Amino acid sequence: MYTIQAGSYQLELGPFLESSLVDVLDKYKGATKLLIADENTSEACLSYLITNFDALSKAEVVILPVGEENKSLEIVGNVWDILSEYGVTRHDLIINVGGGLVTDMGGFIASCYKRGLDFINVPTSLLGMVDASIGGKTGVNLGDFKNQIGVFNDPVAVYIDTIFLSTLPEEEMLSGYAEMLKHGLITSPELFARVVEQMEEPEEFSEDLLRDCIEVKNGIVISDPLEAGPRKKLNFGHTIGHAIEGFLIYSDQVTHGYAVAIGMILESFLSMKRNLLSQEDFNTIESALLKHYSMPIFSNDDIQAITSLLNNDKKNKHGKILCCLLEGIGECTYDHEISVQEVTEVFLHYKNQQINLN
Ligand SMILES: NC(=O)c1ccc[n+]([C@@H]2O[C@H](COP(=O)([O-])OP(=O)(O)OC[C@H]3O[C@@H](n4cnc5c(N)ncnc54)[C@H](O)[C@@H]3O)[C@@H](O)[C@H]2O)c1
Repeated sequence: MYTIQAGSYQLELGPFLESSLVDVLDKYKGATKLLIADENTSEACLSYLITNFDALSKAEVVILPVGEENKSLEIVGNVWDILSEYGVTRHDLIINVGGGLVTDMGGFIASCYKRGLDFINVPTSLLGMVDASIGGKTGVNLGDFKNQIGVFNDPVAVYIDTIFLSTLPEEEMLSGYAEMLKHGLITSPELFARVVEQMEEPEEFSEDLLRDCIEVKNGIVISDPLEAGPRKKLNFGHTIGHAIEGFLIYSDQVTHGYAVAIGMILESFLSMKRNLLSQEDFNTIESALLKHYSMPIFSNDDIQAITSLLNNDKKNKHGKILCCLLEGIGECTYDHEISVQEVTEVFLHYKNQQINLN
């Protein structure tokens, strides 16, 4: 069992049956336990937990609808009504079993209900394991604006067992790899190269690599829990990525990681155009990412709609659109002001390239 101290809580990576989950559940004897999952993780993951942990055999189950369009206040309100019906109190326990959607929403549900009850995260997607379940960010979208409503609040514990990856669809594995690539791009060329290598041989999944990426996320969060400075680096790829994800939220099913991967390519291009990133490093990044994440074709109207979403990015300050840029592979800086015009030109560069290729 690999244990990491993550601020006020512990994160354990390894088999559930060897983890401290039994002991932690024991502390909530007599409390109502509420498992929050989504339509897929309730099928793929819940029975394993319920059959292996006696304390969960009588747990109530709440199932969230899948899809980023359902990461909304409306659904959260429905769950709060259910908690009220079940008579859930501040002394009860929520266990979130799912990807980032479930841990973000479940964490938010737990944090606000009766001013907060304890919750545990059991991430089931690669993206959830390596990123979303760690760091205390919880929340929901507001229409097509990503993660606009939320609070920082830590879980009581996070349990990561890669057993759940066996049912995860391939495109969702790719989504998780995008955040792992990001962890390399913002901190270490070696880590980036290891993730690229792992993606070449996906059948041999490296738990050591997963652990090292978790350490990156956790280390950055611990140094700046409320994102006053260095934690902003974790947003690399997300300024443009969130705008793409928000634009496609109701029309197309696009994974979070895919949108971030495209965001990372475009923000790397922007870094090169500003002479921060060398052509050579850019080429390395672009070819590694385009191999797995194809550049979508956007019309001029699409590009306009996407870039207009940048104005509402939650990282903006005093009307300025702020973005992370790369100064090398493994070297990320933040709070760069970028303009809609500049981002439009980056999109048009790729659009023209596609037209020339056809
Ligand atoms: N809080 C944070 O710090 C943070 C960081 C990164 C991303 N996020 C958020 O996380 C979300 C993306 O997370 P995600 O990629 O996990 O998406 P997700 O939770 O929507 O899961 C993706 C899909 O995989 C399915 N799934 C998950 N685990 C499974 C399993 N073991 N077997 C079969 N199917 C499974 C889900 O049902 C869903 O259909 C976004 O909303 C994003 O904003 C939050």
